Amino acid sequence: MSSESLPQQRIVLGCGSVAVDFLATVASYPNPDDKIRSTSLKVQGGGNAGNALTCASRLGLIPRLISKVANDGQGKSILEELESDGVDTSFFIVEEGNSPFTYIIVDNQTKTRTCIHTPGYPPMRPEELSQSRLFSALDGVNMVYFDGRLHETALIIAKEAARKNIPILVDAERKREGLDYLLNFTSYAVCSAKFPQAWTEAPSIPSALVSMLLRLPNLKFVIVTLGEDGCIMLERSVNGVSDAEEMDVHSLLESLKQRKDDSHAIPTCISSVVTKLSANGIGTVTGRLFVGTAEKIPPNELVDTTGAGDAFIGAVVYALCAGMPPEKMLPFAAQVAACGCRALGARTGLPHRTDPRLATFL
Ligand SMILES: Nc1ncnc2c1ncn2[C@@H]1O[C@H](COP(=O)(O)OP(=O)(O)OP(=O)(O)O)[C@@H](O)[C@H]1O
Ligand SMILES: *[C@@H]1O[C@H](CO)[C@@H](O)[C@H](O)[C@H]1NC(C)=O
Ligand SMILES: *[C@@H]1O[C@H](CO)[C@@H](O)[C@H](O)[C@H]1NC(C)=O
Repeated sequence: MSSESLPQQRIVLGCGSVAVDFLATVASYPNPDDKIRSTSLKVQGGGNAGNALTCASRLGLIPRLISKVANDGQGKSILEELESDGVDTSFFIVEEGNSPFTYIIVDNQTKTRTCIHTPGYPPMRPEELSQSRLFSALDGVNMVYFDGRLHETALIIAKEAARKNIPILVDAERKREGLDYLLNFTSYAVCSAKFPQAWTEAPSIPSALVSMLLRLPNLKFVIVTLGEDGCIMLERSVNGVSDAEEMDVHSLLESLKQRKDDSHAIPTCISSVVTKLSANGIGTVTGRLFVGTAEKIPPNELVDTTGAGDAFIGAVVYALCAGMPPEKMLPFAAQVAACGCRALGARTGLPHRTDPRLATFL
């Protein structure tokens, strides 16, 4: 079996948020007190973990999700939709209350998506996941994913996963309560654009990536996604190459960006060799730097970027389980995310593994 063939029976366990998304596209964003009409409408399952695992499932992984919904109509539709996408919801907690939901306004002019989230009630309590349920949830699991929500439950899962040497991937969207403890157990971090600097207080994204690898000894790589500007990845080199060249991380990033060929619409990746990367006042790590480009989506095909980060992460989880190298993983994840941007909602446009647009990767 080649490393890129279908990772048979690859199970990913996720813990994090689910919701019902109420998406409305508007011709242009309203002013306070305006009354306007939507130009299109969709009600569908959402939440970072729900979306990312739906993506992973469509790509061929076997996902299990730990989260909580209420036993109301919305909770039922959240579960049914996940199940119909092949996500195992048997570890969900269902309790009397209100399920989480999100109003999302998609501005067809600026392509922004504004989210108003209402958390579910009552919140998940870590003791709701019994020890025996935890053990069965982790049985046979190849990778664990957290979106940073339900942090007390996530930490319990993380500790057990670490004990069993199961790698952990975390979606670091913003600073959240309990996230630092989770990050300490994390092998792979995928961050939103603002997170690395917010978390490290470093003066630039590249120096913040160096800082993250220095502060988090278990971290193998960190990726920061930058919307239509693609992504940057810093991978730690394990076999410390003592004679690697030392270079300022900013200079290296600039030299990689200069090698970018902007004539390509399809996502690409430019990588450095193993280098001692230094960041002024922060320190030095030995590793490789990667610049991934996003797909250039024609304006008339770009519909809604809701969940682009989740799609990207679902594809990264797949790529790691399939043993894909970073040079291929980053364009693959960008391609999957770009498919998602061509339809309204976080899940509508998520591709299945038979999608011809993924043929060169799978
Ligand atoms: N306008 C776009 N055109 C092409 N690709 C895009 C666009 N927006 C996002 N993507 C792809 O999706 C990836 C993730 O997007 P982004 O950095 O916006 O994530 P995010 O802010 O975490 O998104 P979300 O919170 O909505 O899930 C990008 O690296 C890129 O590959
Ligand atoms: C968005 O705007 C374009 C033209 O700018 C139009 O063709 C399209 O139908 C609009 N989509 C929605 C959902 O409003
Ligand atoms: C993370 O781990 C390091 C050492 O392994 C420790 O010093 C630090 O306090 C931990 N941080 C958190 C938030 O647990």
